[in-house]
Amino acid sequence: MKLSETELQELAKQLHCPSGKDGIKVGEMMNFTNNNIINKTIHSLNLKKGEAVLEIGPGNGVHISELFKIIPDLNYTGIDISKTMISQAKKLNSGLKNVSFHLTDGKTIEFKANKFDKIFTVNTIYFWQNPQEYATEITRVLKPGGKLAIGFIPETTMQKIPFAKYGFTHYSISAVSALIESTGLKITSAVTATEIVMSNSGNEIEREFVIMTAEKLL
Ligand SMILES: C[S@@+](CC[C@H](N)C(=O)[O-])C[C@H]1O[C@@H](n2cnc3c(N)ncnc32)[C@H](O)[C@@H]1O
Repeated sequence: MKLSETELQELAKQLHCPSGKDGIKVGEMMNFTNNNIINKTIHSLNLKKGEAVLEIGPGNGVHISELFKIIPDLNYTGIDISKTMISQAKKLNSGLKNVSFHLTDGKTIEFKANKFDKIFTVNTIYFWQNPQEYATEITRVLKPGGKLAIGFIPETTMQKIPFAKYGFTHYSISAVSALIESTGLKITSAVTATEIVMSNSGNEIEREFVIMTAEKLL
């Protein structure tokens, strides 16, 4: 299926901030496309009982019930810039305890310093408006000794994805690593893998993804 440039632009806008009925559909599509990278990012954090976890940009948050099956008594907080995704995530996870979702502005993270044991985010870095300030915010709310995991598609693959020329900032591994280190975190790993997925524009593509982890020193 070949999308027109207008359709690609619309898709890119929905991936950035899903909205309305089309946003709900894009959210459901991302559940399939990004399932593997989301699971691997979560896995990299080695989550433990009782930990306070922040996810930035969970979309509709379908993966959270799976996460709770493995570690039932986590304390999970999700923040997202999309009203549509926050309302979907609340609806789809209404049966879970110790889970909350909040609308955010994508610039500040409205929690006290040193609140979270673990923080993760998948496929949001491309949309951070001021990456330096946002990364600093993430580091601020992470506890000393806490871990951050970022899942993203590196620029080498992004350059081949038709919609990613509209409003996505493309990152190399070294650029993400420099950004995160500049906030005082220590990079602990950066693992690259390849997968075949049905892309959001409906074609099967081979794509690389990266899971980067970092730690806030004590
Ligand atoms: C491409 S989707 C990815 C959703 C999910 N993490 C995944 O990988 O399938 C990006 C999500 O992050 C949200 N988002 C974009 N920029 C954000 C920011 N700066 N802070 C929080 N959420 C953001 C969007 O509203 C959307 O729900």
